[in-house]
Amino acid sequence: MRVASISTSILLAVSSVSAGSVIPKELADLATRGEPDRVAILGALQTFITDFSYPRLADIAKNITYSGFADTINGRLDITQEYNGNELNVEYIFGFAAACAALNTTLLLGYPVNQTVFALAIDPPVVSISAIANYDWKGDIGVQPLQVDTWFRYDDDLKLVGYDISMRRFSWLFETITPLIGAGIAKELNITGPDALDYERLMQTRAALDICAAHDQYCTGENQQYATHAECIDTLQNKKPLGKPWAMGIDNTMCRWVHFGMLQYRPAVHCPHVGPTGGDMCNERSYYAATLNNPFALPFAAGA
Ligand SMILES: *[C@@H]1O[C@H](CO)[C@@H](O)[C@H](O)[C@H]1NC(C)=O
Ligand SMILES: *[C@@H]1O[C@H](CO)[C@@H](O)[C@H](O)[C@H]1NC(C)=O
Ligand SMILES: *[C@@H]1O[C@H](CO)[C@@H](O)[C@H](O)[C@H]1NC(C)=O
Ligand SMILES: *[C@@H]1O[C@H](CO)[C@@H](O)[C@H](O)[C@H]1NC(C)=O
Repeated sequence: MRVASISTSILLAVSSVSAGSVIPKELADLATRGEPDRVAILGALQTFITDFSYPRLADIAKNITYSGFADTINGRLDITQEYNGNELNVEYIFGFAAACAALNTTLLLGYPVNQTVFALAIDPPVVSISAIANYDWKGDIGVQPLQVDTWFRYDDDLKLVGYDISMRRFSWLFETITPLIGAGIAKELNITGPDALDYERLMQTRAALDICAAHDQYCTGENQQYATHAECIDTLQNKKPLGKPWAMGIDNTMCRWVHFGMLQYRPAVHCPHVGPTGGDMCNERSYYAATLNNPFALPFAAGA
């Protein structure tokens, strides 16, 4: 791995602990041991975790591409799907979180406000990192912690070319806060009695309302997926399953909710993902293919 130069700004970024998202100094020192290649990667890592925090992420979401991603970046998030290329990754990583933050109804998924690195190994061009990230659901649900485990791979220009992310215990977190999410939806939709305790139905109603509102606004002309608003609501509320928290990359309503925030960016690309077929993002997939197929162009191997 070639690293041209190390600027003092990188070194300053590394030792800064005031920015909200932090790599504790003792971990950073151990993981780099003062070696220039490792220190340079640590700087790029600090920049990324700072950038992937609200409100900064919302500014980055407005840009088509992100300077920290290589054009050939490919990545994967275990609870959803695989994402290739700079623009698509800006949309899914920064754009999705920005869309959640902009909603003023009860959120089905939160957006990251900061993260603290918990475990770190840097061996260029690869990084293995585990962070305790704080995700904001707003309202009574509030900020929730989630441990996020990631393999990163950098190129010679310190841009990310690969990432493989697992959200540890995400299903457990989602189950834990489901009653809070349900209560928030019941309150804003003015639903009372036994129906206010049917959390699955409430979440599916919320998801359908959010998705169909975005569909009405952005999926017009040849991008239109549903003939009418009522057909959209009926499909997403009654014809598809809600979907489990681990299954946001297959054919269900939760998966389509992950994509509603994307419609504003490139309707022609994203509208099929909320439509009846789910396009190539919310389609039927096999557990075995998801587990056994390696989608990465470059290996996550130190020294490779
Ligand atoms: C992260 O955000 C949470 C919620 O706003 C806050 O309580 C916590 O102090 C923040 N952590 C850091 C390291 O800034
Ligand atoms: C957006 O892109 C422009 C042009 O490349 C860049 O100058 C600006 O810093 C970017 N904004 C953010 C928030 O990264
Ligand atoms: C949030 O609420 C305000 C007023 O209650 C409304 O005007 C605005 O359109 C809402 N924003 C979104 C994204 O729904
Ligand atoms: C909620 O529903 C009740 C009963 O139908 C009604 O009396 C009340 O006005 C509604 N409140 C709101 C805020 O819509």
